[in-house]
Amino acid sequence: MRSCSIRGVIRHHLAWLVLILCSWRVAAAQDQQAPKTDPVEAAALNTILGRWGKKASPEWNISGELCSGFAADKTDWDNYRDINPFIKCDCTFNNNTLCHITRLRVTYLDVVGQIPAELQNLTHLVDLNLFRNYLTGPIPSFIGKFTSMQYLSLSFNPLSGLLPKELGNLTNLLSLGISSDNFTGSLPEELGNLTKLQQLYFDSSGFSGPFPSSFSKLQNLKFLSASDNVFKGKIPAYLGTMTNLEDIAFHGNSFEGPVPESLSNLTKLTRLWIGDIINGVSPLAFISNMASLSTLILRNCKISSDLGAVEFSMFKQLKLL
Ligand SMILES: *[C@@H]1O[C@H](CO)[C@@H](O)[C@H](O)[C@H]1NC(C)=O
Ligand SMILES: *[C@@H]1O[C@H](CO)[C@@H](O)[C@H](O)[C@H]1NC(C)=O
Ligand SMILES: *[C@@H]1O[C@H](CO)[C@@H](O)[C@H](O)[C@H]1NC(C)=O
Ligand SMILES: *[C@@H]1O[C@H](CO)[C@@H](O)[C@H](O)[C@H]1NC(C)=O
Ligand SMILES: *[C@@H]1O[C@H](CO)[C@@H](O)[C@H](O)[C@H]1NC(C)=O
Ligand SMILES: *[C@@H]1O[C@H](CO)[C@@H](O)[C@H](O)[C@H]1NC(C)=O
Ligand SMILES: *[C@@H]1O[C@H](CO)[C@@H](O)[C@H](O)[C@H]1NC(C)=O
Repeated sequence: MRSCSIRGVIRHHLAWLVLILCSWRVAAAQDQQAPKTDPVEAAALNTILGRWGKKASPEWNISGELCSGFAADKTDWDNYRDINPFIKCDCTFNNNTLCHITRLRVTYLDVVGQIPAELQNLTHLVDLNLFRNYLTGPIPSFIGKFTSMQYLSLSFNPLSGLLPKELGNLTNLLSLGISSDNFTGSLPEELGNLTKLQQLYFDSSGFSGPFPSSFSKLQNLKFLSASDNVFKGKIPAYLGTMTNLEDIAFHGNSFEGPVPESLSNLTKLTRLWIGDIINGVSPLAFISNMASLSTLILRNCKISSDLGAVEFSMFKQLKLL
């Protein structure tokens, strides 16, 4: 009886020991597997969001690890549109042990202040979306360091000053949004180096001067929104060579006519909005080949033409004229 019970006690303790050892090993293995956020990036992001009074939602930054949960899984972040602020990470570095922050979204959150200097430590960003906040001051020249960036939106912030020429360094950009900001001066010629750009929005942002001649290099553009600035001079004829264009808005500036004939080559346009041309009469023939148009607005363009010269029945998609 007695020996049996001693044996039982020993067996009981052994079972506990095995259990403890096992769970310790599992924990150690998990610890080894769970990738860690780059510490410089983690400190920078915590500083930035802390200063803005913003916190991670419970779906990420689990137990203080920024690149965890939804931030570290493989799902596209567009599937988590309600998580804001939000980050996405690439955790495949150093044999899947190190995460770099690749995307940062802080939108519609009334964030105030200047673009924080700590941002430059997030060197692996491919997507930065600060749409619709109250960020003031200039875009810092360190923006030129983000050479992996593909999507950059700083639209709807009262950012001011000259646009830094260093933006022209971001040659992997596919989309640049700097609309409804409060800049001064002209657009830097260096932006013409962003030859992969497909979307470029700088409407209602205070820009003046002529349209940069270097923009003729932006042959991949599909969307070009330049309306409601203070541009002068002619609408550039090279626009007609950018045959991928689907949507252009040039109204609300002080462009001189005539509207360049070369636009007739833009047969993929679904929206064309030109207006407020200050002098120089234009014929209407340039719209003749734009069979995909769904919106055509040529208000206050000093068009003088025989309407019969254009075959309107070809505009089968037209919804707004
Ligand atoms: C970010 O980078 C700057 C300049 O490189 C450095 O001085 C600063 O300590 C870094 N901040 C954080 C939070 O890592
Ligand atoms: C992430 O969690 C840590 C630990 O709880 C916290 O100190 C930090 O502020 C959190 N970061 C964010 C962005 O919420
Ligand atoms: C990468 O990690 C795996 C599993 O954690 C390990 O088996 C392998 O040896 C590692 N490779 C290198 C090059 O460290
Ligand atoms: C421009 O990008 C290069 C790397 O492509 C980098 O070395 C350089 O510092 C960047 N310049 C600026 C002004 O950010
Ligand atoms: C825009 O900039 C001008 C100076 O250029 C300034 O007077 C104005 O207050 C700014 N607007 C906003 C909304 O910050
Ligand atoms: C960028 O564009 C400017 C002006 O158009 C040009 O002088 C410069 O050489 C370009 N830089 C690169 C790296 O292509
Ligand atoms: C349209 O493009 C063709 C081929 O590039 C060119 O020869 C022609 O001159 C262009 N039309 C106009 C009106 O610019």
